[in-house]
Amino acid sequence: MTAVSPPSHPVDALGVVADALARADETLELAARHLDPSLVAVLRILGFDKEYRSAQGSYLYDAAGRAYLDFHSGEGFASLGHNHPDVRDVLQATLAANLVDGVQITYSVLAGMLAEALSQRLPRGLDAVFFASTGAEAVDSAMKFARAATRRPRFVSCDSSFHGVTLGPLSLVGDEFFKEGFGPLLPGCARVPFGDLARLEAELRKKDVAAFIVEPIQGREVTLPPAGYLQAAQELCRRYGTLFVVDEIQTGLGRTGTWFALEHSGLEPDFVLVGKALSGGYVPVAAMVTRREIYQKAVGTLERSYVHQSTFGRNRLSMAAGLAALRIIERDQLVEHAARIGAILRDGLAELQQRYDMIKEVRGSGLMIGIELQAPSSRTARLSIRLIRMASEGLFPQLVVIPLHRDHGVITMAAGKNDVVKLLPPLTLSEPEARTFLGALDAVLADCQAGGSKNWAVVRDIATATLRRRASPTVR
Ligand SMILES: Cc1ncc(COP(=O)(O)O)c(C=O)c1O
Repeated sequence: MTAVSPPSHPVDALGVVADALARADETLELAARHLDPSLVAVLRILGFDKEYRSAQGSYLYDAAGRAYLDFHSGEGFASLGHNHPDVRDVLQATLAANLVDGVQITYSVLAGMLAEALSQRLPRGLDAVFFASTGAEAVDSAMKFARAATRRPRFVSCDSSFHGVTLGPLSLVGDEFFKEGFGPLLPGCARVPFGDLARLEAELRKKDVAAFIVEPIQGREVTLPPAGYLQAAQELCRRYGTLFVVDEIQTGLGRTGTWFALEHSGLEPDFVLVGKALSGGYVPVAAMVTRREIYQKAVGTLERSYVHQSTFGRNRLSMAAGLAALRIIERDQLVEHAARIGAILRDGLAELQQRYDMIKEVRGSGLMIGIELQAPSSRTARLSIRLIRMASEGLFPQLVVIPLHRDHGVITMAAGKNDVVKLLPPLTLSEPEARTFLGALDAVLADCQAGGSKNWAVVRDIATATLRRRASPTVR
């Protein structure tokens, strides 16, 4: 992929864009000084400290004009590809219309239109919407509404789940690592293994659980539910008066080859949560969608009509971006496209698995795919992996992620303490782009299989430096 010609930049009278362009090479220095130096350090260690200057479709471009195929899309943020020109058009037209915004005593028609469009895509009866700015805020809203509607205090979620990092959702998150140092969190939150109905029923039977919150496919390691699990969980919730909340913040809007992942199991939840892709890749927006009677039970009196609001929740740019995203997904048949390209990727990965024992399992749906790795059988590899694991659980997949990025210009991600490389490419990914990825992964795996290659040396060096730092924290 050759670099696109640099976009023409309109100059703003305040010089903001001109300054940003002029100071682009200070990006990481500024981030280290004023944002998060630890994250900048991690990017440097892994070799991800590029200064990306622009992005279009499936690609990011660095200062030298090198193209990077983005197989992560900001965890689904850029599901329509980067800087989709039609979303930009809608946003520019929305700004040019000088609509009323931010005045809490009004409603904009855009908000009603987006709520209507979302509910048309969801199971019947899910037609009451609250707009938020982040996924975590949508989860938090569902927690509050479920409590108020049921008059029950507790929540149940799943091990290995992810629902956001503000205190409410964090109380549900299924991984202690995210919670350390931030407690005490909400009391009474229980976790059950994803797929374990007996443990779920044991909690629900207490009849004090307001809601069971679950991702239809767990995003952390791309874990699919056992057959029949989600329908049975929904039934248990109905039986014990618990509201059933499906968190589609990552899986929704075409990602898994259906509009919503709940369609794979024919679910009819009490709440569906949407975020990420709804942004069109531009503007923060998320939504909590529920049934009218639940909404009304929670806040449906004149006195309570303003107790759950959010300044930016239904601002015009968010609403316009959401409408643009839905229309593009529909017009360009991106749901069907994601299913088709996802199948091509999974077939290609299955073929690679035949040839490389480093691939333990390939799983997923549509364009949400997890590749679980394992140590190759060679003795040198097994020795190296012991060192790598001692340094950090979760470092091993960097053996693939780093060279994909460094040598092949492909961005993937390994998140958390597991051995999974996660693929979340844009829904607009073309078949040739999918094949480029498969070719790159083939080359990387061929190199790693040997056990003594440069890729192993790089990750072993990171592991050694990490262990040294741990032994003597003053060593940088
Ligand atoms: C399933 C799920 N729920 C909630 C969230 C939180 O969304 P946000 O980062 O917008 O708060 C995420 C983010 O990754 C997610 O994947």
